[in-house]
Amino acid sequence: MKKMMIRNFALVAHIDHGKSTLADRMIEFCNQLPSRVVQSQILDTMDLERERGITIKAQCVRLNYISSSGKVYVLNLIDTPGHADFFYEVSRSLEACDGVVLIVDSTQGIEAQTISNYTTVQNKGLNVIPVLNKVDVKTNDLDSSIHQMCAVFDFDKESILQVSAKFGIGIKELFECIVHKLPFPTGCENAPLQVLVFDLWFDLHLGVVSLICVKNGCIRVKEKIKVLSTGEVFFVETLGVFTPRKKFVSFLEAGEIGFLTIGSKNVSVLNVGDTITHVSDFNVLPLCGFQKIRAKVYAGFYPVEAHMFSLLKSSLEKLRLNDFSLLFEVENSPSLGFGFRCGFLGTLHMEIIKERLEREYNVDLCVTIPTVTYEVLFTNPFSKIYIDNPTKLSKFTKKYEIREPIALVTIISPTQLVGKIISLCVEKRGRQQDLKYFDKHSLLVFNIPMNEIIIDFYSKIKSLSSGFASVDYKFLMYKKSVLLRLDVLINSVVFDAFSIFVHVSGAQKKGKVILEKLKDEIPKQLFDVIIQIAVNSKIILRETIKALRKDVIDKCYGGDVTRKKKLLEKQKKGKKKMRYFGKVHLPKSVFFSLMKIS
Ligand code: GTP
Repeated sequence: MKKMMIRNFALVAHIDHGKSTLADRMIEFCNQLPSRVVQSQILDTMDLERERGITIKAQCVRLNYISSSGKVYVLNLIDTPGHADFFYEVSRSLEACDGVVLIVDSTQGIEAQTISNYTTVQNKGLNVIPVLNKVDVKTNDLDSSIHQMCAVFDFDKESILQVSAKFGIGIKELFECIVHKLPFPTGCENAPLQVLVFDLWFDLHLGVVSLICVKNGCIRVKEKIKVLSTGEVFFVETLGVFTPRKKFVSFLEAGEIGFLTIGSKNVSVLNVGDTITHVSDFNVLPLCGFQKIRAKVYAGFYPVEAHMFSLLKSSLEKLRLNDFSLLFEVENSPSLGFGFRCGFLGTLHMEIIKERLEREYNVDLCVTIPTVTYEVLFTNPFSKIYIDNPTKLSKFTKKYEIREPIALVTIISPTQLVGKIISLCVEKRGRQQDLKYFDKHSLLVFNIPMNEIIIDFYSKIKSLSSGFASVDYKFLMYKKSVLLRLDVLINSVVFDAFSIFVHVSGAQKKGKVILEKLKDEIPKQLFDVIIQIAVNSKIILRETIKALRKDVIDKCYGGDVTRKKKLLEKQKKGKKKMRYFGKVHLPKSVFFSLMKIS
């Protein structure tokens, strides 16, 4: 295939600006699926994606487009997720692209993620086609959106395409723009093989499947290949492309995107970002892989039943193959036994992973309170550690200083709401860095402790602005802070899975919320359950869940009072025994309710 006829590009946008709908129309335009199987959001293949109406995984599809001049082009389109928690999918996909289509919803205008996407695309030096979507909506303000795009991104007014992904308006013009304005891939098919692995997943039948972009050379079925990072050697079992259906091919050459299987069921044979070459090719340089991921949120994932630990382990390994932004390591909690400390790019990411583990792998989970990682500095001698649970500090006797992570938060909001948004940010211990006005909108920049925003900041901003403001945030730095250790004691024993760091200003409030939730969720047991909240080892709050009382004197109607007293005495002794030996039963819902406290 002549590489001049190939275009590799991604659709990028803020959440819900219409990427998947546009991908549907583009697939339809190229007549690549029989009409009886066409459904909306074709590329959102996971049940969860369809139920929630969001894209979680980037998907690639090959389209054959016949241009106005009659030339046949091969377009590799990558539909990417819009939510900030799945941004790693976008940044990886961009490594396989030579350009992007940046979509802006004309009813919303530019949002925080639009700016973040645009900055990433600019840094990678990729060509951008600006698209204004949803032009069919009568109530939109096209002029204002165009003005914003020109003012913030410096686009020419004439270069902005007006499209309705829903009704297929402007699709032909978009295709023409893609083939004429985006460059073709630069690789050479006669050079030594250089293949970038930019996505991986586990298929029950095919084993490990990798999505590859052939940067140089040509890869064929049955050839012997090696992974540059590990030196491991494999045979190419199958090669193929998604049209969007799986179509097997015998080779892929420079500029092409497709999938590769090597007949392995071992999930650790390949990594996202690996470079593959022929065993016979020497002096091939590894392609620059992907940036290291820094998790923003951490939580403990424990199996409800201890014997499910190995199932949880293998399930996490398979999921990680499909989602390299998921981090995990084994952890042993005195209260919950063996489980995993998992790192995520946000709480939505955490919820999705939890649901995927439960649905796709049938693992029942207890999840601890989401938190962030803190930097602990020891001065004499100097050393640094990173922890997310204060119980891990108990073993240290030397002096230390705790620093909390600070996020750089960008908010775009209608100007009339700026006052309310600033108040919320200040309430979250934020410090204002910048405020700019463009059109009827404002761009606010704040430094806010990460711990204050990971749970409900996004939804608070959305409800405060009736959905018109948007947020994006990234890690900025660690900063010294007055943090206290908050523990939950159940019947006088610290339940380490619920221990967290809290800022001095919010300790009492947070303790109260946790106590209320626990009181509501822990069912009555055969003995009293005493819940206490301790801050820096000092009990500040206490609640008792009264025991279920069995009426032992029910059968003694009338009769001798000493007999009744004897029975009550016997019951009391039994209860004492149970309280002493008995284990408090904590149902899954207890953990679930604490997952969302702010
Ligand atoms: P994420 O992948 O979750 O970020 O969303 P997305 O950008 O892929 O958006 P999606 O295609 O799921 O569209 C979001 C909503 O906007 C859906 O309800 C679509 O039906 C609607 N939508 C998309 N394009 C148009 C359009 O051109 N006109 C109108 N009226 N609605 C549209």
